[in-house]
Amino acid sequence: MNKLKRAQATEISHEEAKRQGQIIERLKERLKGQSLTYFITTFGCQMNAHDSEKLKGILERIGYTEAETEDVADFVVYNTCAVRENAENRVYGRIGHLKSIKKKKPNMMIALCGCMMQQPTVITKLKESYRHIDIVFGTHNLYKMAELLETRLDTKSPVYDIWEAHKEIIEDLPSIRKYSFKAAVNIMFGCNNFCTYCIVPYVRGRERSRMPVDIVNEIKGLVADGVVEIMLLGQNVNSYGQNLEDKTSFAQLLQMIAKIDGLERIRFMTPHPKDLSDELIEVIATEPKVCDYLHLPVQSGSTKLLKAMNRRYTKEDYLTLLKKIKARIPHIALTTDIIVGFPGEDDQDIEDTLEVIRAAEYSSAFTFIYSKRTGTPAANMENQVPEALTKERFNKVLDLVNEMSYKASSSHVGGTYKVLVEEVNEKKEGMMSGRLEDHTLVHFQGTPDLIGTIIDVHVTDSMSYYVVGEIVK
Ligand code: SAH
Ligand code: SF4
Ligand code: F3S
Repeated sequence: MNKLKRAQATEISHEEAKRQGQIIERLKERLKGQSLTYFITTFGCQMNAHDSEKLKGILERIGYTEAETEDVADFVVYNTCAVRENAENRVYGRIGHLKSIKKKKPNMMIALCGCMMQQPTVITKLKESYRHIDIVFGTHNLYKMAELLETRLDTKSPVYDIWEAHKEIIEDLPSIRKYSFKAAVNIMFGCNNFCTYCIVPYVRGRERSRMPVDIVNEIKGLVADGVVEIMLLGQNVNSYGQNLEDKTSFAQLLQMIAKIDGLERIRFMTPHPKDLSDELIEVIATEPKVCDYLHLPVQSGSTKLLKAMNRRYTKEDYLTLLKKIKARIPHIALTTDIIVGFPGEDDQDIEDTLEVIRAAEYSSAFTFIYSKRTGTPAANMENQVPEALTKERFNKVLDLVNEMSYKASSSHVGGTYKVLVEEVNEKKEGMMSGRLEDHTLVHFQGTPDLIGTIIDVHVTDSMSYYVVGEIVK
């Protein structure tokens, strides 16, 4: 895109945001005095959680307030995930349940959105068997929710609006953050990697990066509003900037963001091991604001399976990368995602995975049982693994992951660390919870006024997934 075209594209997206703003104002006027409430349930990843913050922003600007429970809400939203079958089944179960509630509350509005809605088979099923749904939209047009609600009110019939592909990136959307002191920021959308098991590229579309200036301006605004920690979101942050005219790299983007005064911590997810650059390792090592923490999904330790998964690295590549990272940043915390039960998996493949887990000493790992996703190449692969065998292997992997987690958390005992205080610990009176720079969860005695501040905590004890400490006065 040349400079003029790029300027026009930005112009259009601001224009569209303005148009949506006008619709929000119209709805506000139209629904005034009705004390309407909403309830949003989010499935899936942080990307979806952040999208839900934008939906909340739109609804609250219209005048809706958050309901205590779904059953009493006037507007119910499910922001769905398609990555594994059980996430989809949960959604079908819940929309089935909503039917009886809606019978008693005919004015209740039900909206479905997110990744599941990008699959034509889902839409067919909804239209045929779930006629009580009012509004359905996808991942590319969530910014239009107010407009779709207006159409639903005008036409009094269900509104389906799913886009196959993405048009332009809409900036300036309202958003309601869960925490006042930390926030998620999209740096890119979509994915081009097509790992053979994964539905994400089909439901989130091709990779698109936001312009550095838009990202930096958003973060400056957040910092002015009290945010001290940001989480940069993208399916493969390492390929940030590739579709931009000036080809800003992810490492360069981090350096620009680190210059923002008042911002204390920068996190990001997810980097892909296949193209984690030396430049990025250097920025993590040298830039104090960039947390010494990497979520580096391995998926499998077996070169044979990695090839079948189209991950584009071998076991040796990953082990070499681990060595390089640990040599440059000795205290770095590593976490990962692992899939057990991918087609063709045998005992040796699991041994390879266990070897990588031992070498990485992950502080935690999300371990998933492979879920067959219609439309992905892996779904058509022969030699799908029997469930019972997968469960057995899954437990083996989980045991080692737990052992490593305990080892990682114990390594903190006796040390003093900077902690961002996040919330009151609901389980134990007088206790607060926060995160170390390496993302370790810590509980300590404290008061709610500390929330959002960074304090020193001396770690005295450790459990598998958290540590316990005392404030250093
Ligand atoms: N873009 C990120 C993560 C995307 S989805 C990445 O590449 O790491 C989050 C995790 O879900 C993946 O890392 C993978 O471990 C898991 N996942 C994706 N598809 C899956 C499937 N079909 N079955 C089981 N787990 C899956
Ligand atoms: Fe899915 Fe692979 Fe893209 Fe991650 S990188 S979203 S696992 S296709
Ligand atoms: Fe995230 Fe699930 Fe979509 S993992 S990108 S919400 S399919």
